[in-house]
Formats: sequence, C-alpha cells, structure tokens
Amino acid sequence: MAYKLGGVLIGKDEIDRMVARLADQISDDYDNQELVVVGILKGSFIFMSDLIRKLRPSVIIDFMSVSSYYENTQSTGIVKIIKDLDVSIHNRNVLIVEDIVDSGLTLSNLKELLMTKEPKSLKLCVAFDKPDRRKTQIEADYVGMVIPDEFIVGYGLDYAGKYRNLPEVRIMETDGGNK
Ligand code: IMP
Ligand code: MG
Repeated sequence: MAYKLGGVLIGKDEIDRMVARLADQISDDYDNQELVVVGILKGSFIFMSDLIRKLRPSVIIDFMSVSSYYENTQSTGIVKIIKDLDVSIHNRNVLIVEDIVDSGLTLSNLKELLMTKEPKSLKLCVAFDKPDRRKTQIEADYVGMVIPDEFIVGYGLDYAGKYRNLPEVRIMETDGGNK
C-alpha cells in the first residue's frame, strides 16, 4: 500500500505545552532524587532532548536501541536489542522515554528486561499513546497525548526512516483515502 504525508495532527505549540506539563509532573514526582533517563532510539531523541532540558532533578542519560518495526506500519512483535545500556541502572531511579506506545509489545518486553537489572524504580514516559492498538497490558506512567489509530510521523517518529525532522506531528495517509 502506498502512503503519503498527510495533514497536521498535533502542532508545535501543543507539543511544547505537552512536554512542559510532563516535565513538571516528573520533576514533582522525583523531587530531588537523581534520575537515569533512558531514551529508546531513534524515535525518542527529539522528545527526550526537549523533556530533559525542562526537568529539575539531576539527570543522567543513556540510550537503548531496539527494533520491532521493519519498514512498514505493522509491528512484528519481535523486540531485538541493537544497543544496550552503557550505565548501570542497579538501585537507581530509571525513566524510560519512548516516542509512542502502540501494541505495547516493545515497552512490555523492555520493562521486563530492565527489571532484571534491579533498578530502584522503573517508570515509563511516552510522548504519544495509541490505546486502540494494544496487544498487551501496559500503561505508561506519563503520557503526553492519546491519539487515534493512525500512523503518525514527525517530532522524532518516522515512516521508513523519513520525516523524523518534522517539527509537528502529521498523519500518513494511503493514496486511496485517509487510512
Ligand atoms: P509497539 O511495540 O507496537 O508498542 O511499537 C512501538 C514502536 O513502534 C514505537 O517505538 C515506534 O517506533 C513504532 N510505531 C508505532 N506506531 C507508530 C506510528 O504511528 N508512527 C511511527 N512509529 C510508530
Ligand atoms: Mg521506536
């Protein structure tokens, strides 16, 4: 199916307000405790860089790269670790930052894996949430925006590697209609 770039779903100002709200919530919850923020590459890198600059607690950052999507819009359900953590999360407060939770398979597998490293606490923060598509029971602790069942791009999210640089969030449309 051929996809093309569609209309704006979430504008830049709305994204800014969403990030500020999440950063306030997270800062309040962790008070002055140190926090290891783990961004899931590549989709989270823009959201994470905006978010951490608004956090008040002292922050250490790391990244992981996992893969569950292979150049299409359907999840394979397989999560492969491409890049593991550099820092130890043992006995530390960990916040996973992800671009979007869709089927939930990526985050539930990842959470299970990171729990084996015995962090002091482990929470999830996602920019966008598509609850209609959930295949496993998982809820993020911090959710930027709940969105409808559409494939979105921009603000770090890609379609076949493209459109991550768009400052706003847009919908991918099929040539024949809007889905
Ligand atoms: P899940 O395992 O199905 O929850 O998939 C999560 C991953 O799929 C995200 O980290 C994204 O990389 C990708 N993904 C899911 N939905 C979208 C979307 O609408 N646009 C771009 N990437 C998406
Ligand atoms: Mg991703």
